[in-house]
Amino acid sequence: MIAIGCDHAGVEMKKAIIDALTEKGFEFKDLGTDGKPCDYPVVAKALCDEIINGNCEKGILICGTGIGMSMSANKVKGIRAALCSDSFSTKFTRLHNDANVMCMGARVLGNGLAVELAEIFLTTGFEGGRHQRRINLINDIENNNLTSD
Ligand code: RB5
Repeated sequence: MIAIGCDHAGVEMKKAIIDALTEKGFEFKDLGTDGKPCDYPVVAKALCDEIINGNCEKGILICGTGIGMSMSANKVKGIRAALCSDSFSTKFTRLHNDANVMCMGARVLGNGLAVELAEIFLTTGFEGGRHQRRINLINDIENNNLTSD
């Protein structure tokens, strides 16, 4: 199950992604908004909780720029959210960073590109190996276990 959420800026893009990728066999849990103006951190937190609780494996968050959503999502322990606007970064944030949330800007990207990027994100696996060591270091930062001296 894939969690998807947006603020008022991202409603059309969210619908385009759900429509196109449901046809390809993906299942979505829609965490809103349905169009009413809302505050993006509230949606980001609700979506990240679905992933941390194990209800959803990955998430897609959309706001005007994607930036507010990515800032909010990255405050949740265990979330690695990537702001995606090109196919190379989208592919490599899965291969190397094991990103579990992608964020996109509905005022930045067209819906066609957003659908393509979402499919790349959802179908690319994590490479593991040396990249797992770096994910572990990110976790150490999160747990205040990595010193800089
Ligand atoms: C809402 O107008 C806008 O600020 C929001 O969608 C987002 O771009 C924030 O990062």
